[in-house]
Amino acid sequence: MAQPFRLVVLISGSGSNLQAFIDRVADGSLPATIAAVISNKADAFGLERARRAGIPVDVVSHREYASREDFDRALAARIDAHRPDLVVLAGFMRILTPAFVHHYAGRLINIHPSLLPKFTGMDTHARAIAAGEKEHGCSVHFVTEELDGGPVVAQARVPVLPDDTPDSLRERVQRAEHRLYPEVAGWLATGRLVLTADGPRLDGRPALAAHDNVH
Ligand code: GAR
Repeated sequence: MAQPFRLVVLISGSGSNLQAFIDRVADGSLPATIAAVISNKADAFGLERARRAGIPVDVVSHREYASREDFDRALAARIDAHRPDLVVLAGFMRILTPAFVHHYAGRLINIHPSLLPKFTGMDTHARAIAAGEKEHGCSVHFVTEELDGGPVVAQARVPVLPDDTPDSLRERVQRAEHRLYPEVAGWLATGRLVLTADGPRLDGRPALAAHDNVH
């Protein structure tokens, strides 16, 4: 039998996206195995979600390293011990060094809570409301050296409603994240999605155009 496609998921917090991955692996719709969940914070609730699902967990605290480079080297060694096919950033709130990003070129993805290239960085929901946006959403992208700047693979859109607060909008966007992110990982697991020199290709076509994948 073919070896299962191995995911290592990096988290810093609640891990609701991790939970979506756990659920999709459990129900068979994501053909992959979660080899490990690694957090830079020992108290991240996502670690508890992983333990409940019987997934190995590890903590690599950035506080224990003198520099970003040292932390990233240690983190990569701990990730690679699990032989990942894909590294999934799921609310992992650290800026990664170029060396780390290059090491995982084409097999490192992130979800960002905005319709990139709009609203890179933090507080995207409050900023979308303040800007009077009618639509907001999330983007899954390959990670490159540029913060929130790697090639976008897929997006999901939600409306911004007149009485939205940043929290109500975040909840709506996160429901979309939980559908979109495991689906994109599934495309990678089945070889449908690859990062080429010409950008991300889904079924051989530019990924964002393919299959009208803007949900
Ligand atoms: C997610 O909503 C994700 O989009 C965001 O962090 C949240 C983590 O939630 N990521 C970023 O802001 C990355 N720049 P979770 O821990 O419940 O999955």
